[in-house]
Amino acid sequence: MFFFYFASLIYLLIAQGEEEESFDDNDFLRPPPDDEGSLAHPLHRTYLQDSYCMDGTQAAAYVFEGSTDDLIMYFYSGGICIEDSTKFLKYGDYAYIDNCTYRNTTFYGTSNGYPEEFNANQGLMGNNKYQNVHLRKAHKMFLMYCDGNMWYQQMNPQVFKGSLLQMKLIPKRIILAGSGVGGWYLVNKYNELRTVIKDLYQEEEVEIRILLDSVIFDISRNKDIIDAYTEATKRAGITMNDIFSFDALKKVDIPTFIVHSQYDWWQLEICDGFECIGKIHLDKCTPKEKKQIEKIRLNILQQLKDLMKSKPDWGLWAISCVFNELVIWTESWNHPKFQIPMMKGGLLSDKFQDWLENRVDNNVHYDIVSWPDNKPCSNIYHNGKIDPQLDEMMRNYEIKESRRKREEKYDL
Ligand SMILES: *[C@@H]1O[C@H](CO)[C@@H](O)[C@H](O)[C@H]1NC(C)=O
Ligand SMILES: *[C@@H]1O[C@H](CO)[C@@H](O)[C@H](O)[C@H]1NC(C)=O
Repeated sequence: MFFFYFASLIYLLIAQGEEEESFDDNDFLRPPPDDEGSLAHPLHRTYLQDSYCMDGTQAAAYVFEGSTDDLIMYFYSGGICIEDSTKFLKYGDYAYIDNCTYRNTTFYGTSNGYPEEFNANQGLMGNNKYQNVHLRKAHKMFLMYCDGNMWYQQMNPQVFKGSLLQMKLIPKRIILAGSGVGGWYLVNKYNELRTVIKDLYQEEEVEIRILLDSVIFDISRNKDIIDAYTEATKRAGITMNDIFSFDALKKVDIPTFIVHSQYDWWQLEICDGFECIGKIHLDKCTPKEKKQIEKIRLNILQQLKDLMKSKPDWGLWAISCVFNELVIWTESWNHPKFQIPMMKGGLLSDKFQDWLENRVDNNVHYDIVSWPDNKPCSNIYHNGKIDPQLDEMMRNYEIKESRRKREEKYDL
């Protein structure tokens, strides 16, 4: 279970087949088994033309051949490399800021060692009903991030065109999805990517949507991070205003859905230096720290709300739990534990689909409560024990739900 909070690709790649077991511990609201949708299919490796990782190996992607008119192009996250990363060593791998010599030898710097099949795909990239109820049959390309350069070296319009051609289909809708630096790449390059799409499919009306997951909006309190990203942006030929900035986001004129954890652990632990975060909860934080964290959370939330007011066709899903990367984990993408508001608001996958299909008027969803008051996703039952209060709450909820259902039936 613990591993699920470290959204590390290395884990994704080596964890093949462990998913079912890992879930069982805490998976108190698991939907009943469903034969039709329970089979997960692996993604298949493909190399991208004229696109290279840091060490000169060919960049790669993992593909799922679907059967609907949707195509999801997912740009993975993974921070940056810089010349000297000594200051970030204390965080282990999870700062996602390495020295370039080292990164050259990792999954984020070379495609050497990428397996032919990728079995641990989940969430938005999953293809069974349990993982990804609405988009399981969509065509998918999971683009692997391996240039240490926020995508600016391995990706460009030509490479993007080649990737689309490899999918061998004419989609009706393309979802450009990205987490972290993958998301910022989309924010900066959406116009060029759109031009590629329009040129390629010409007469066909291809709708484009953007999905941004766990992009960080504020690094202003950490000089080391600012320095690191200043080095990387210079190398990539962009400025600091192009990333971590609401100004950059505001320029985007494609309907965009933002997925955000109000307690993003990268933001709080790595960037704001709260050692109490421990990635999955705030249990160890002092009242003073919690107060500071609230201020940061509410400030970012307010800016997101303002952004949504100026973008009527956008959507937001901002949950009050400690997490980072929500769309590619089944646990956060398509699971009753993760809802806004808790227990009854709707899953991220449902809310995203409502927005995608223009089904509802309100696509702005955020928790108003602080941690841990969205209890199911707050990890207050960690260390293998379920919080008794939470347990009772769940039971009451289920009783009320079944009563409600009976009453509905009676009314009919
Ligand atoms: C780069 O990082 C690796 C792993 O953190 C470390 O072992 C190595 O000494 C570093 N090299 C340089 C040149 O900083
Ligand atoms: C990465 O590896 C390649 C191939 O071994 C080498 O040519 C290049 O200089 C390395 N880059 C860095 C930053 O270490």
